[in-house]
Amino acid sequence: MNIIKEAAQHVMKKAVELAPDAWMPGGKSDPLIERRDGYIGTPVSRLDGADKVQGKAPFAAEFPLDRLAYAALVYSTVPKGRIATLDTAKAEAAPGVLLAMTHKNAPAMQPMPRFLTGEKAAAGEGLAVFQDDLVHYNGQPVALVLAETQEQADHAASLVRVTYLTEAAVTSLAAARAAGTEPGAFMGEPLKKEIGDAERALADAMYKVDVVYSTPRYNHNAIELHAATVAWEGDKLRIHDATQAVAHTAWSMAQVFGLKEEQVHVTSPFVGGGFGGKAMWRHQVLAAAASKLAGRPVRIVLSREGVYRVVGGRTLTEQRVAIGATADGNFDALIHTGVTAMTPHNDFPEPFILASQCLYAAASFKLDVEAVRLDALANTFMRAPGEAVGTFALECAVDELAVLMGIDPVELRITNEPDKDPIAGTPFSSRHIVDAWRLGGERFGWNARHFQPRTRREGEWLIGLGCATATYPYHRMPGGAARITLTRDGRAHVEFAAHEMGMGTATTHAMVAAERLGLALENVSVGYGDSALPGVILAGGSQQTASVGHAIIEAQRALVKALLALAARESPLHGLKPDEIAARDGGLCKIDEPQRFVSYAALLEGAGRDAVSAEGSAPPPLETMHWSMHSFGAIFCEARVNVVTGEPRVTRLLGAFDCGRIINPKTAASQFRGGMIMGMGMALMEETLFDERNGRIMNPSLSEYHVPVHLDVPEIEVMWTDIPDPHAPMGARGIGEIGITGTSAAIANAIYNACGIRVRDLPITLDKLMEGQAKEGASYC
Ligand code: MOS
Repeated sequence: MNIIKEAAQHVMKKAVELAPDAWMPGGKSDPLIERRDGYIGTPVSRLDGADKVQGKAPFAAEFPLDRLAYAALVYSTVPKGRIATLDTAKAEAAPGVLLAMTHKNAPAMQPMPRFLTGEKAAAGEGLAVFQDDLVHYNGQPVALVLAETQEQADHAASLVRVTYLTEAAVTSLAAARAAGTEPGAFMGEPLKKEIGDAERALADAMYKVDVVYSTPRYNHNAIELHAATVAWEGDKLRIHDATQAVAHTAWSMAQVFGLKEEQVHVTSPFVGGGFGGKAMWRHQVLAAAASKLAGRPVRIVLSREGVYRVVGGRTLTEQRVAIGATADGNFDALIHTGVTAMTPHNDFPEPFILASQCLYAAASFKLDVEAVRLDALANTFMRAPGEAVGTFALECAVDELAVLMGIDPVELRITNEPDKDPIAGTPFSSRHIVDAWRLGGERFGWNARHFQPRTRREGEWLIGLGCATATYPYHRMPGGAARITLTRDGRAHVEFAAHEMGMGTATTHAMVAAERLGLALENVSVGYGDSALPGVILAGGSQQTASVGHAIIEAQRALVKALLALAARESPLHGLKPDEIAARDGGLCKIDEPQRFVSYAALLEGAGRDAVSAEGSAPPPLETMHWSMHSFGAIFCEARVNVVTGEPRVTRLLGAFDCGRIINPKTAASQFRGGMIMGMGMALMEETLFDERNGRIMNPSLSEYHVPVHLDVPEIEVMWTDIPDPHAPMGARGIGEIGITGTSAAIANAIYNACGIRVRDLPITLDKLMEGQAKEGASYC
């Protein structure tokens, strides 16, 4: 970035920080926050639920098209080099095969636009697809076979023979480190923050912990496999996709194929889980290229192994956390540094210091993420990138300090509650984390905890309690927009290019729109998951609700304006300004004279209109620079460790969250629980096994990559403060990702409290617990 631009941005940032609250989006509280007798806050079942259980909700791989051809992929078996020979003759001769596509016959395409390189860049990696003979990582697709059926394609793909000229690859962390580290950056912000001399303060501190934690690689395992059904209609490309970013994907696919954005139409009405992985990867590009070559529509569904070969996951981290404290537990120094891995073809260092920037007051800070590059599949976003693994390290270290000092870990955390953002210095928009601790602690029975490990036992099981803080920022990305169409029958259709991946978006925004428009829920329908709709809205960063919410505020304002323009001279609303208007009971009224009321139907009738449509765009998200905006939570866990086998089990889990106002308690509870179950996976089982000799992922299946199943998961209790954030639309901050944060630390801390063993390397498996026990010289029985 040039120095003038940098200076201008700095001035702009300062100006936004210092500007009066009222100038900010969210400076004037959303009137819906005050409304307590409407839909918001009531448990509403998913509007798409019935269709889903009846199989009427079509997913990307379920759209029927005439003459559909099916694709299968062949993956490289070396980490780096060139394709020497590629023999597709046998595959092409196999039954049902239409063609084999490789770099030799693929159409010319531009490289995929890599995330964060442009407003709508959607791809996890920036490589060209099938344009040369280069192999960049082990598992890279090198050939595609198209056939009349999926089975024929799969069989033919197994007949393709490839040899390689292998080159030296960097596939071990040690080798990557030896090649040098580089500074990490996330969304344009350097991942390095220093206040004071933290190393000095640590050296001088009365109490200190200084430990290293490590987290492995993780793979995406959404239930729905990545899939796309594509068709060329003349020079237009139609994609039925499974994506968290319809608008981004349409633009990005247009760049790859040299088209105008409007020539690509992406829809994705239902997505079976995304978690950061349902973006643009090679499969959509390959399907569109093969379709072009074959002159037929193509369906591609990655196999479960295919997801591991094509779609990146979360990269590994090695994190040092050091905390120095005074005798009364105040932090003198907070140090959180370490290394993470990425690749030559992406730029995504896992930003594990993010939570450490906002959770605690400390007299000095040293936070730093460094990155190395490995020849591997590009890593990417995975639920709470940064916070998920960062809170594991930070919140275990806080627990270790509490044990060392003989202080209750909840009290130690509360002692270090900051009164403003510890790094940015900006005020918190709303922070009631202490309420969450108290609320959760009481319900969980935290007071019954034994401070000494190994002092509670039932039969073969040692029992312990642990806790940790959860946190995730409030984001609202630029580009939110929505359209409201009101019809004479008093119904509204609200549309935005957002996504329903199972989290409840459609239901939540129908509730929000109904309340904002003063309509009954059954008179509101929503349209989404379509790149032709208004907005550039990402289902990511736990921000879709804020993004759509603000867009609906603007669209409703535009609609009121349009309706007032229709109000005839004899209308009770004639001459009023939009700011004087409220919506209620299927119409509009004057705020302070609710009896001056006209129904929507009467307004349209009077103007002789069948429908009125209005569109609004959300303002840039300056509120996040003016206030420090974060969701918080307190996670409590009861864990058991078997004294004979070392087996760890989670037997109780509770999350008390402070995420602003909860719009739909029913879908929100599922979001929290789902995140916490992913946290359980991190703590106890999930791990991508990566062969450092050749860069191959060795466990690309759900039989070898373990995730929690029903029998592993206890009943999870969730609760919330429900205190609205005065500066967020509807008073609601994000809830999608926070559940995975803090949970793995709470489990690790509970396991320590049960058996006295600290496992600092995830996942916490029985072998590590037995090894720890052996080191301590204690025996299990
Ligand atoms: Mo999330 S990792 O922002 O889909």
